[in-house]
Amino acid sequence: MSVSAYGPPIVVVLGVSGSGKTTVGKAVAEQLGVPFLEGDDFHPAANIAKMRAGHPLDDADREPWLRALAERIRQSAEADEGLVIACSALKRAYRDELRSGAGAGLWCLYLALDRATAWDRVSRRTGHFMPAVLVESQFATLEPLQPDEPGLTLDATTDLPALLRRVRAAVTRGDGRAGS
Ligand SMILES: Nc1ncnc2c1ncn2[C@@H]1O[C@H](COP(=O)(O)OP(=O)(O)OP(=O)(O)O)[C@@H](O)[C@H]1O
Ligand SMILES: [Mg+2]
Repeated sequence: MSVSAYGPPIVVVLGVSGSGKTTVGKAVAEQLGVPFLEGDDFHPAANIAKMRAGHPLDDADREPWLRALAERIRQSAEADEGLVIACSALKRAYRDELRSGAGAGLWCLYLALDRATAWDRVSRRTGHFMPAVLVESQFATLEPLQPDEPGLTLDATTDLPALLRRVRAAVTRGDGRAGS
C-alpha cells in the first residue's frame, strides 16, 4: 500500500558527506517500499578516480553524472514508480537538472549537518572513497533547499526513527506536491 495519496514519491536525499544520505535514504526507501539507489553509482569512472585522489569534482565533471541520474529518475516517473536516491545534489542547479527528469514529482530531503559533525563522521569511516578533506569543499559548494523546492529540511543529527517519522508524515501529507 502506498503511504501517499499523491502517487509513489521520487525522493532525492541530499546533503554533505556524512550527513546520512545512504543511511537515511535506505531506511526511507524501505519505509516507502520503493527501490533505493546510490547516486555515486552513476558517476563515470573518471569522477570516482578524481575523488579518490582527493580532488573535488567541477561542474563539467558532474554533467554526465547528473544527466544519467535525471534519465534514471525519468524512467521511474514515466513508469509511475517510486524511488529513493542518495545524492549530494549540493547546488540548486544540480537539483534543477534532476527535477528535469521528474517534473513536479521530485521531492528533496535535505539532511542539514554542521561542519564539526560532518568531519567527525567522515573521519571515523573507513573503506569509503570520500577523504575528509573534501568535506570542506562540500560546505563551500552547498546551497540549502530553497522555499520553492518541494521537500523537507531536517537536522541530520536527529535520531533515525524520528527522521523516519517526519519523512513519513510529510510524504503522507503530500507536502510540496503539485496541487497540495
Ligand atoms: N541520524 C544519524 N544519527 C547518528 N549517526 C548517523 C545518522 N545518520 C548517519 N549517521 C552515521 O554517519 C555516518 C555517515 O552516514 P552516511 O554514510 O549515511 O552518510 P552519507 O551522506 O551517505 O555520506 P557520503 O556522502 O560520504 O556517502 C555513518 O557512520 C552513519 O552511521
Ligand atoms: Mg553515502
